[in-house]
Parts: sequence; structure tokens; C-alpha cells
Amino acid sequence: MDKLAFKATDRPVARHIAIIMDGNGRWAAERGLPRAEGHRKGVEAVRRTVSAAQELGITHLTLFSFSSENWSRPRQEINDLFGLLRRFVRRDLADLHKNGVKIRVIGTRAGLAPDLLRMIDDAIELTKDNTALNLTIAFNYGARDEIARAAARLAEDVAKGVLDPADITQERFAAYLDTAGLPDPDLLIRTSGELRLSNFLLWQVAYSEFVFVDCYWPDFSREQLEAALAEYQRRNRRFGGTSARSTA
Ligand code: IPE
Ligand code: IPE
Ligand code: MG
Repeated sequence: MDKLAFKATDRPVARHIAIIMDGNGRWAAERGLPRAEGHRKGVEAVRRTVSAAQELGITHLTLFSFSSENWSRPRQEINDLFGLLRRFVRRDLADLHKNGVKIRVIGTRAGLAPDLLRMIDDAIELTKDNTALNLTIAFNYGARDEIARAAARLAEDVAKGVLDPADITQERFAAYLDTAGLPDPDLLIRTSGELRLSNFLLWQVAYSEFVFVDCYWPDFSREQLEAALAEYQRRNRRFGGTSARSTA
């Protein structure tokens, strides 16, 4: 198959891709390496994927990097993952900014160290006017937690008299989510062969196309991204209707 087949067709191109980056631990275990090494290689796959997404003209990329349920992992592994995020921001932020990447972080701030929150805030502030690629990092993120937090803020506005319950619509509700203002993902990719959402973007993927890739995240390459984009274009999105509808 022509690797760039998705560019040659007139079918709609996915503009927002969300990825569940899974399989770092198994990648390492298969090589007799510590799980941390899998996570380190996973960061390299993030760099590759961000560049490939930009080259392929994707405007929104959302990456699941630490879930609200990942706190149940051993303390050492959590420290390794947080250390990698800190290093990623320190090492890659200048390049991302130079390349026009706008960073956004979704998830709860609860439980995160003040220095990490400061780094995140600085990255968001530095890149806020960029327009080339909207990179959203789901960190300390769980969709049920996001929805519950949105409901709490919405209830506060009702209690304050700012919002009338009769005016609550899907659109109004979505504006309370961490993803407010972002288009819904067109395409959701999960690596490592697992066929589940693991509490990722439950509200937002209502009509996304799902592509499950067998390889572990550290092995994810531009070729696999292109193959997923081509697969997306072969799908017929109906949104409950009877015929294909453009997503443009
Ligand atoms: C994905 O890889 C990274 C995170 C969830 C933080 P895993 O660490 O889940 O790797 P597996 O699924 O155990 O192989
Ligand atoms: C989902 O992967 C979370 C991230 C990729 C950050 P997990 O490895 O935590 O999911 P489960 O436990 O296999 O469902
Ligand atoms: Mg996993």
C-alpha cells in the first residue's frame, strides 16, 4: 500500500488524533529491561509522533500519559514517570515552542507537586499563542474524574444563580470539561493490543473512529501513524445518519 495513500484521496483527513500510549512496560519486559527503560523509550516515541503529526498536517494531538488510576502503581514507577515528564518539559519545551506547538494539559492538579504545576503553567503560558499544532497532554487524567469535576463546577454556577438548569445543553456542559474549546477527536489510537478505553475521554470520543495497533508504544512509528490515518479514511462516519458525512 502506498504509505501516503491518505493524502492522495479526497476523503476527510483526521484533524484531531488522540492516542492511548500503552505497552511501555511490556516492551521493556520482553527485553529483560526495567519498566523505566520502556517509559524512557516511550518519550522518544512521543517526540517522533509529535514531529510526524506536524509533518502530516494534523492540527490537534492528544496524548494519554498518566491516568488517575496509574497512582496504583509502585511508588518508584510513579516517580520515574513524573521524572520523565519533568525532563521532557525541560529538554523539549524550547523546540516545541520554536515549532509552533501550543501545549495544553488536561487532568486534575490535585496531588501534583507545586514545582511540577509551575512547569506545566510555564509551558502553557509560553506556548499560548502558537497555532501550528495543539498538543494536549492528559496527565493525572481520568474521564470520570473530569466529568465529575465539570458537574461540580456547573452545580456551583447553578447555586450562584449564574446558570439556569433549564439552559444546560451538551454544548454548555462540554464547556466545563478540561477539553473545553477543543474539537472532539476524529481518531483514537491505542497501542499494545489492548481493546479498551481505560477511562480516557469518555465524553469526547462518542463518535470517534477507533484504531487499535498491536505494537507497544516505544515501537510506534510514523509508518504506523500513517497507516492509522489511512484506515481512518476508509471508515464511513455516519453520526447516526444513513450516509457518510464530511467531518470538515
Ligand atoms: C503506558 O505503558 C505508559 C503508562 C500507562 C504510564 P504501561 O506502563 O501501561 O505499559 P504496560 O501496559 O504495562 O506494558
Ligand atoms: C492507560 O494505560 C493509561 C495511559 C496510557 C496513560 P494503562 O496501562 O494504565 O491501562 P490499563 O490498566 O491496562 O487499562
Ligand atoms: Mg498499560
